[in-house]
Amino acid sequence: MERLKEDLRKALALALPGQDIALERPRSGDMGDAAFPCFRAAKAMGKNPAQLAQELASTIRIEGAELVAAGPYINLKLHPEIRAKAMLEALLGSTPYGSASATGETVIVEYSSPNIAKLFTIGHLRSTMIGHALAQVNRYLGCKLWRLNHLGDWGTQFGTLLAAYKRWAEADNPKLDQDFSWADEIPEKRRSPLFRLFQLYVRFHQEEEQSPEMRDEARLWFKRLEEGDPEARRLWKWFRDISLAEFQRIYDRLGVGFDTLEQGEAFYEDHLKPTLARLASSGLLQDGDAGAKIIDLSDVGIQTPYLVQKADGTSIYATRDIAAALFRQKEYDFNRCLYVVGADQVLHFQQLFAVMNKLDPWFKGRMLHTPFGMIKLPEGKMSTRKGNVIFLEDVLDEAVQRVLAIIEEKNPELPDKAAVAEMLGMGAVVFFDALNDRVKSITFTWDRVIALDGDTGPYVQYAHARICSVLRKAGGDWAAKARPQNVLDSETSIVEYKDASLPASMTGLEHPSAQALLFELSGLPEAICTVQRENMATALARQLLAIAKSFSGFYTNCPILHADNPPEVRESRLALCVATARALRQGLFLMGIKAPEEM
Ligand code: ARG
Repeated sequence: MERLKEDLRKALALALPGQDIALERPRSGDMGDAAFPCFRAAKAMGKNPAQLAQELASTIRIEGAELVAAGPYINLKLHPEIRAKAMLEALLGSTPYGSASATGETVIVEYSSPNIAKLFTIGHLRSTMIGHALAQVNRYLGCKLWRLNHLGDWGTQFGTLLAAYKRWAEADNPKLDQDFSWADEIPEKRRSPLFRLFQLYVRFHQEEEQSPEMRDEARLWFKRLEEGDPEARRLWKWFRDISLAEFQRIYDRLGVGFDTLEQGEAFYEDHLKPTLARLASSGLLQDGDAGAKIIDLSDVGIQTPYLVQKADGTSIYATRDIAAALFRQKEYDFNRCLYVVGADQVLHFQQLFAVMNKLDPWFKGRMLHTPFGMIKLPEGKMSTRKGNVIFLEDVLDEAVQRVLAIIEEKNPELPDKAAVAEMLGMGAVVFFDALNDRVKSITFTWDRVIALDGDTGPYVQYAHARICSVLRKAGGDWAAKARPQNVLDSETSIVEYKDASLPASMTGLEHPSAQALLFELSGLPEAICTVQRENMATALARQLLAIAKSFSGFYTNCPILHADNPPEVRESRLALCVATARALRQGLFLMGIKAPEEM
């Protein structure tokens, strides 16, 4: 297929010297497999675009395809048999479809990055799953990948936690695992030590509004922590361990992994002095109010100066990000570093990148903030401090429960009901998030986020499961052809399949519904590249829906196992089923969604 497109490109280049020949993908398969818009060339030649399209379509010949003028476009339409053969060859071989081998680029994806001693809320889902998909896709496209988590394990909030723990918890409940007296509305299973820490944090902020002097208490504890006071350090480490154990549980459930969890904010403590010294020797540091240090960025159009050291000498978030960037430059020598962080930090990253560019031009164009909108509650922004949050686990649990109820009703005999419900419930939540434009804010309502009908993850998962069921019924080794050969965990991006032979003929795939499905399958590689280019998974989610929908058309209009089918028709249609199952499973896997074979 690529070869035919290349032939067209060459022929157009000959016919239109000096013009930029960029082919587009038509919206639907009946228009063709590739399109060339004639507007620009026509303008340059003083012609009418539709007329130019007509002329070119009648003079250029491409073997194996037809050229059709449609208004101002020339469409390249592959012969049905060639289209079928091209797609089945691409999907039935053992080379992962649409992947690329090493590009030599090193990409860091930094994502999730929760703050210690807070619980995962629905807000954390976005950074975690968008980041996961970006990591998966970049690795699939041959980049050397580093998955980092800039854990919020340092900063003034630890002063708050230490002070709160000392005030209310240490004496009566040193282990933090009892006394949930003011958490009645919290389900039993959520009453963990981490939850207790979280409560202490919220309570401190609530009481502090009445007694502002508590703020000094917190500040003092943070200072002690920064100065290395052994008790503060010991408690800090303990809080961190409690949190990490809980985070790891959630990452395992989501199927998300990192190359290290050791490079959080605290990791950069020893880097701060040298970092500040380097900023000073580069002439970037200026005095701010009362002895604070700032970096002026007005010369690059950023009016808010970047605060890098507070008046009391303590370091801040920004300083640690500068240190982290310098460390990553040395350690990973990256081509790109993606920061998958909420849109509320846009200014912070503009400032950070501007500082890095000043410090070393090497950084120019290498760092990218991929912001995403917040998940809001109907009543406004979520705030951990105020305690009005929706916990991620509650959302996942609820989604899984709803799926289980449907399974109990419709398919009570299904083996492994709980495991399937888990895959579908997670699929619903994760797919919903990806399908939404990354940058827009989302208003959270239960019915939207865990919807099971319409354009949802379970719809795509269902198409996959239905194919597996057809393949099982077909007998022989059909089902095995759609079964992965490797373990699908977070350490790989590729679903490996055995080489499967092509059907003897393509008879049976000329039907427009089969051709429409082939066309949607051909869009998968481009959708994956779009994810890499746009740094959001939306294009992939949409393409998977398009494949699933066109499969449903194929399934309705082209009998697969019908007794009257000649054997070659049955074979070619089963082969298309295998190809579709592979494409769907691979695509879902890149998004972090599992594909059950039965549901
Ligand atoms: N821990 C931060 C938060 O929850 C996000 C960290 C983002 N990454 C970074 N390098 N600043 O808001």
